[in-house]
Amino acid sequence: MTATDVPELVATGLTVRFAGLTALDGVDLTVRPGSLHALIGPNGAGKSTCFNVLSGVYRADAGSVRFGDAELTALPPHRIAALGVARTFQNIALSERLSTADNLMLGRHRLTRAGVLSAGLRLPRARSEERRHRARAAEIAEFVGVAEHLAVPAGALPYGVRKRVELARALCAEPRLLLLDEPVAGMNGPERHAMARAIRQARDALGLSVVLVEHDMAMVARLADEVTVLDFGRRIAAGPPDRVRRDPAVIRAYLGEQS
Ligand SMILES: Nc1ncnc2c1ncn2[C@@H]1O[C@H](COP(=O)(O)OP(=O)(O)OP(=O)(O)O)[C@@H](O)[C@H]1O
Ligand SMILES: [Mg+2]
Repeated sequence: MTATDVPELVATGLTVRFAGLTALDGVDLTVRPGSLHALIGPNGAGKSTCFNVLSGVYRADAGSVRFGDAELTALPPHRIAALGVARTFQNIALSERLSTADNLMLGRHRLTRAGVLSAGLRLPRARSEERRHRARAAEIAEFVGVAEHLAVPAGALPYGVRKRVELARALCAEPRLLLLDEPVAGMNGPERHAMARAIRQARDALGLSVVLVEHDMAMVARLADEVTVLDFGRRIAAGPPDRVRRDPAVIRAYLGEQS
């Protein structure tokens, strides 16, 4: 059970306004099936806003998001999730007292018929369904390198491992498109490497598309097939990482942030 039939994501002219501020201003974003796409830009550029539109949390004021045959801009978050779009958040959102395994089972909720954790009637069919989901969750834990922590409460795990459990939980929904908002924020060097490896392995094993918000250009260059750069809500560059990195408009935007 891997992500087959992954459609292209094509956002055009995305515009989001908050009171007097235009957070996204006519942004285009194309994510090829199975690619790892980095969305970068200085603080406040509109990256999280873009994710919020793609996942249905915010409604776009203008523009369209096509995911295969579906138009996402008119859909509520649960319908977008049902089409195979999963995300992680800038801040960790795990149930700290539940084990890693049970957190992953929550990630499979969309795919379960009887809400396996709460199934009061332990009928044979429910039991075998639960076994199947637990086996798949364990397999996904393996891809992202958290299998050894399955029995441990999420709250007891080191920060870097918790972030990878979050990645695993999003993958447990069997997404075709995965949105990762700053998955390595606040991590030390080894944790960043472990996360980068987990993201690459998950993509390779499952064949899904990934959009990654990330500040570290070196990591983007290592991981991403393509990059889209936002600055003040506008797309200022798009293309392969080595070309985007040398783009004068991109260099200016990042230098401006440091001064
Ligand atoms: N719900 C909101 N209400 C009002 N303004 C908002 C809201 N969400 C975002 N903004 C504003 O929109 C702009 C883009 O914010 P966004 O969070 O998308 O940036 P970002 O690129 O994710 O930045 P960061 O790198 O700091 O996470 C910012 O000026 C922000 O203050
Ligand atoms: Mg953000």
